[in-house]
Amino acid sequence: MDRALVSAIAHRRHPVAAPVSDESVHRLLTELEPEMPSDAPRLLDLGCGSGEWLRGALRLLPAWEGVGVDVSAPALDEARRRAGDDRGLRDRVRWERADAAAWSGGRFDVVICIGATHAFGGLAPTLEALRRHLLPGGRVLLGEGYWEGTPSQAALDALGAAPGELPDLPGLMAEVARHGYEPGFGHLSTAAEWDRYEWSWTGSLVTWALEEADDDERTEALGIAREHRRQWLEGYRGHLGFATVVLHDTGRGH
Ligand SMILES: C[S@@+](CC[C@H](N)C(=O)[O-])C[C@H]1O[C@@H](n2cnc3c(N)ncnc32)[C@H](O)[C@@H]1O
Repeated sequence: MDRALVSAIAHRRHPVAAPVSDESVHRLLTELEPEMPSDAPRLLDLGCGSGEWLRGALRLLPAWEGVGVDVSAPALDEARRRAGDDRGLRDRVRWERADAAAWSGGRFDVVICIGATHAFGGLAPTLEALRRHLLPGGRVLLGEGYWEGTPSQAALDALGAAPGELPDLPGLMAEVARHGYEPGFGHLSTAAEWDRYEWSWTGSLVTWALEEADDDERTEALGIAREHRRQWLEGYRGHLGFATVVLHDTGRGH
């Protein structure tokens, strides 16, 4: 099965593709508006998925316009469908299918990038790329994984990660500061948010496999759900953290 389709099915029961509850998403979005937004303020979401963060932000900022960028056609179809149902929103948002690392479209007051640093080759290149899209004094909403302590081999294997590929939390904050950002409000996903996210992921895929898929897809989808559940429960559960942080541009990188 196509990975983008698997991901679209797996996220049916969880509005964002990150271990963050609706309440935490809302709380973070209320912190995004910079002190002095431009005359025609704009938001950019790189790796927007089905667009939940961007739509939520635009609902809170009714004079703003937004652009969501992602490579996944099914995720963008879902983003368009959900925005199309919202009359106050559909004329203020554009969805573009593109590689976020290569995309360009001017500078924005706020740039969102949640769970998508792999699109840029890691945290440091992501922070560099985000700055190229950000107006001076703007804000970034960054969502990134980190290790809670030294990861076990099982946790590394589950993510297919090399030691050092993900930072710990102090390392994440230090990297952000090195790129000229000051962390403002932030949220560390709780164990309950993680469990809810992973049960939603595997459960949505299982339900689809058993109730909607044809015979070939059923076997494959069940295999993917079982493997994901195993990697979570035997591998990274309790070891992998997720931080979503509002970053204020101080303009003083490196
Ligand atoms: C974990 S999901 C997060 C989606 C969304 N930010 C959210 O939190 O709901 C990662 C997203 O990055 C997208 N992605 C991966 N590589 C990308 C690339 N090179 N350019 C743009 N998007 C990419 C995936 O299609 C997926 O939608």
